[in-house]
Amino acid sequence: MIPVIKVFPDLEAVSRHAASIFVNLSAKSIAEHGRFAAAIPGGSTPKKLFELLASEEYKNKIDWSRVHFFWTDERCVPPEDTKSNFRLAFDVLLSKIPVPAENIHRIKGELPPEAGAQDYENNLKIFFGKSGLPVFDLIILGMGEDGHTASLFPDSDALKETEKVAVAVHYEIPPYQRGIKGVVIPLKKSEIPRITLTLPVLNNASQIIFLGSGKSKADMVGKILSDGTEKKHYPAGLVKPVHGNLLWLIDKETAKKLSRLDAR
Ligand code: 6PG
Repeated sequence: MIPVIKVFPDLEAVSRHAASIFVNLSAKSIAEHGRFAAAIPGGSTPKKLFELLASEEYKNKIDWSRVHFFWTDERCVPPEDTKSNFRLAFDVLLSKIPVPAENIHRIKGELPPEAGAQDYENNLKIFFGKSGLPVFDLIILGMGEDGHTASLFPDSDALKETEKVAVAVHYEIPPYQRGIKGVVIPLKKSEIPRITLTLPVLNNASQIIFLGSGKSKADMVGKILSDGTEKKHYPAGLVKPVHGNLLWLIDKETAKKLSRLDAR
């Protein structure tokens, strides 16, 4: 699976291209099988995409009655919490489009982590069928500077999960340093547990789109998208759809460490 990499001047252009894919892929999926199942992430990068999809320019191009929203991961907080990935999507997108409430399949962060993961797994099996892995028409992912994606973190046991489609993650960000204008600061540890889709589910999607923006991601994207073997140490480097397509949409700051060969 060779990823297709498209480099854009800035996050606005990345997001516009992603919005066009969302429009086209939703129409294709709805025409082919009557619905469009998309899993969206949290974080700051997809916010512009969400805003575009909710804008007059895009929202009327999509049959929201057939679109089903899922999440790649969620923090174990109530849905109204400002740290909730659902809350982010609700505020900038879901509250502004005519998507039916029953098409919003949020991860219940208000439950105890393991119960929330089981509840999400049950809902995924109801929607996609009990046999085999869910097949998302589209999974949108971001990537952290440490190479995490969704809530799959380096060296996490969750990376070894082959049976369950959603798991609870209790992790602490390793106190790795982050150079900001030369100042090296320890990152605070986060104790908020999370719930995440597992790698086999991500890799079973028909289309995966990574969104990347800013120079803070350049080093890691350079590792993940190079031909070297280093990528296997990072969760984002383990995202290789078995049957589907993999597309990286990044801005030129994030692409700084890519060789010409990498950026196809
Ligand atoms: C989350 C996301 C996470 C995110 C990365 C990148 O729940 O936060 O799923 O995997 O995509 O941390 O975050 P930014 O887009 O803010 O850089």
